[in-house]
Amino acid sequence: MDAIEAILTRRSIRKYIKKPISENDITNLLESAMSAPSAGNEQPWHFIVINDPKILKGIPSFHNHAQMLNDASLAILVCNDKRLEKHGEMWIQDCSAATENILLAVNAKGLGAVWLGIYPREERINGMRKLLNVPEHIIPFSLISIGYPAEKKPPANRYDSSRVHKNKW
Ligand SMILES: Cc1cc2nc3c(=O)[nH]c(=O)nc-3n(C[C@H](O)[C@H](O)[C@H](O)COP(=O)(O)O)c2cc1C
Repeated sequence: MDAIEAILTRRSIRKYIKKPISENDITNLLESAMSAPSAGNEQPWHFIVINDPKILKGIPSFHNHAQMLNDASLAILVCNDKRLEKHGEMWIQDCSAATENILLAVNAKGLGAVWLGIYPREERINGMRKLLNVPEHIIPFSLISIGYPAEKKPPANRYDSSRVHKNKW
């Protein structure tokens, strides 16, 4: 699958076959995340890889759109390290780029994933903090639920020429 195909066919996959994801695949996903651009190359991210089903099943108790984690093989929590920030709130864009890179790499590998919003919802940030023992200077940003897909979705085809402006509004 080339890069354009991986982008145009990516969809949120919330149903999974129970099957572990290899260490090699997990490393590739993290390499993809850390290849993302960041403001001034600050790379403020940390990643918590969660494959313990007991921990995964604890997340829907404080995140009301995370039921799919009951069947996920894996989740990756993308975090910001306040001590590594050099450009203020640009970290949000850095962590978003890392999150999207993981989603695209997942799709290219024939796996399925969905982005679960954490930041800026206080109850989700605090829930992740407590569950995973995350220190104060680390901000949980997004959680990516990952597994072998048990559902198939067609490409979304969202291209809309009315949203494109040339040279001026
Ligand atoms: C910031 C953000 C937060 C999201 N949070 C959730 C979530 O908590 N639970 C969920 O099931 N999907 C979540 N999604 C996935 C969106 O629902 C999904 O991307 C959107 O409906 C478009 O569908 P697609 O990803 O299949 O193209 C989130 C996506 C983004 C970008």
